[in-house]
Amino acid sequence: MKLGIFGVGYVGLVTAVCLADKGHSIFIHDTAKEKIATLQSGGVPIFEEGLEQILHQNRNRLSFTHDARKVISECEIIFICTGTPQDEKGNADLSQVESAVNEITSHSLSDKIIVIKSTVPPGTTEQMEQLANKQTSATNFLFVHNPEFLRQGKAVYDFMNPSRIILGASDKKAQEILKNIYSAWDAPILQTDSKSAELLKYAANSFLAMKISYINMISQLSDSLGTNIDDIASGIGLDPRIGSDFLKTGIGFGGSCFPKDLKALENAAADNGVELPFIGQTLDINEKQGDFFFEKIKAYGEDLKNKKITMLGLSFKPKTDDIRSAPSIVLSEKLLNEGARVTAFDPLVRDFPIEGVHMVHSFESAIIDTDITVIVTEWDDFNQLFRAENMKRMKQPPVIFDGRNMFTLEEVRRIADQHPLHYESIGRPKVSSLGVKKQIFV
Ligand code: UDX
Repeated sequence: MKLGIFGVGYVGLVTAVCLADKGHSIFIHDTAKEKIATLQSGGVPIFEEGLEQILHQNRNRLSFTHDARKVISECEIIFICTGTPQDEKGNADLSQVESAVNEITSHSLSDKIIVIKSTVPPGTTEQMEQLANKQTSATNFLFVHNPEFLRQGKAVYDFMNPSRIILGASDKKAQEILKNIYSAWDAPILQTDSKSAELLKYAANSFLAMKISYINMISQLSDSLGTNIDDIASGIGLDPRIGSDFLKTGIGFGGSCFPKDLKALENAAADNGVELPFIGQTLDINEKQGDFFFEKIKAYGEDLKNKKITMLGLSFKPKTDDIRSAPSIVLSEKLLNEGARVTAFDPLVRDFPIEGVHMVHSFESAIIDTDITVIVTEWDDFNQLFRAENMKRMKQPPVIFDGRNMFTLEEVRRIADQHPLHYESIGRPKVSSLGVKKQIFV
């Protein structure tokens, strides 16, 4: 089939190449001219594992165009994958989705199925469908909400191996056409009304975020009791009713989805006169988890002024260059406010918006002569931190704060037997072979 895509962010581009891989011809438009130009010249504007390869394999089925009307005239089915960022009140800003819908409805000469993949508050798809069909009686627009559950960094894999496909629509015909397209995937297809599909997406993301905040909340108690949160999480997760995913403690979740989706859900509920206390607390615990980790560093260093602090990892999670709502932002600001000299290395992030953070281009140079090394994102590259040559690079004895519990305590204890060091993580006992702690700063 000929399928259109509006919006070529990570959702739109991954959707486009994966649909092309199933044999469809895809026409792609984005208002960002430079993105389209990059794609037209064979480049890939975002980093996603496996994306470049699948894009090149399907190059002959992908047309990138500045001309929205070309997509509209060629395609009967158009997927809207534009962003819905948070506005200043915490609501989902729908302007990009609205303008894509307007563009399609005002230039269509034949009936269309408009598939909204963007995350939108409950009721949006229905309202847009009514508005679109009010404008003209010559053409008919059927709307479907088809939420995505793609993880950044694993988006191609997730699109190709979905746990479920959700089709929310008021019209069975549109649902059946979409069902036919998705029959090329081996996944359960749930058909529902569009409002339920919209709420389902927010509820799924909120539940995952809630699991993280839950384990982070318990990690604070574990920290003060001297118990091991990783063992606790494993023991909880082995109960199949709970499941082991999303129980990894850390300095908090970030990214382009969880923080904004939870806020948007809380606001949408409030507009309907409903309170969702779990949601507010999930966000609150997340913020406090970053503070908790910072306070640990501060408590150790006492005076951080002029200390060299190296942040390893800036992206909100490994395998992406995305720093939206990343815990590294708030942490670096707090460290700079204490007068620390902050150096940072991330395997993919090149531009970091916090002035005063000194970016370096290798892991090895980042840790040279550092007073405190802080693991912010658990990139595989940092597994080599305890190698003898790296231990020597840091100021002696090395002081490491692991915000992602990257290393097991057994590993760290083994190293500490051979090399004096101080290591703190989250919700687990410290490992220190320094004797009197303060000798680091004398
Ligand atoms: C998420 C959802 O997983 C996806 O279904 C939805 O479509 C978009 O939002 P994404 O934001 O790409 O995807 O990242 P995800 O892998 O879910 O991680 C989100 C954040 O939670 C990251 O900051 C990660 O470090 C953190 N996290 C995740 C934890 O702190 N602990 C965990 O156990 C899991």
